[in-house]
Amino acid sequence: MSKIKMAPSIFAANFLNLGEEIDRLEKLGVDYIHYDIMDNHFVPNISFGPLVVETISKSTSIKGDVHLMIDLSKDVVSRFFVKGIEIITVHIEADGFSRELCEFIKENGFRLGLAIKPKTEVEAVIPYLDIVDMVLVMTVEPGFSGQKLIQETIPKVRKVRDLISGLGREVEIEVDGGVNIDNASELVENGANVLVMGSFFFSGNNGEKVVNFLRGIHEKVS
Ligand code: DX5
Ligand code: ZN
Repeated sequence: MSKIKMAPSIFAANFLNLGEEIDRLEKLGVDYIHYDIMDNHFVPNISFGPLVVETISKSTSIKGDVHLMIDLSKDVVSRFFVKGIEIITVHIEADGFSRELCEFIKENGFRLGLAIKPKTEVEAVIPYLDIVDMVLVMTVEPGFSGQKLIQETIPKVRKVRDLISGLGREVEIEVDGGVNIDNASELVENGANVLVMGSFFFSGNNGEKVVNFLRGIHEKVS
């Protein structure tokens, strides 16, 4: 199986000490920094924009995973075409979403992630299976960190896994929202291989615990 990747969501970090938070992520050896971008339109919240993404991205070698919870246009998406970002994920439900926009992201050298909200059927990704690099299954309604994972979203992870198996190309599955040590194994067993964690990861010394725990899961299943 592919490696289980850890993607802490910087949105839940201590913004007064961002530099220290990034240093800690580097020491922990996490795989991605997950950037939650919100526009108060697609979701009822505002987070931060490209300046913050660029500033952090420049100061670290950890690759970036940008999760756009915004309505879409080529103009706004291209502002996140920043050095150090590997994946750009857009929501299928967002205004302005189109295949052309997906191709635009890929043509500019980024991997393409497609996100679906808890109530969106998994089948919505089928028309894009030839170009998608990662499917993000939202396990809470997007907009806020610190929510409880919606249990009914877990079978969707399995459904995505079934859809992509046999495609002959690697498509990752990311889960985002309410992920913690108690539900991570079940998510991985159902096919998730990129785990986003916000509030759980950044609370106390949970970051260390999570990294050790994931090593354990990986050794058990590989
Ligand atoms: C929700 C965001 C998540 C969230 C994760 O809209 O996409 O990335 O901040 O935070 P937790 O792990 O606290 O749910
Ligand atoms: Zn996210």
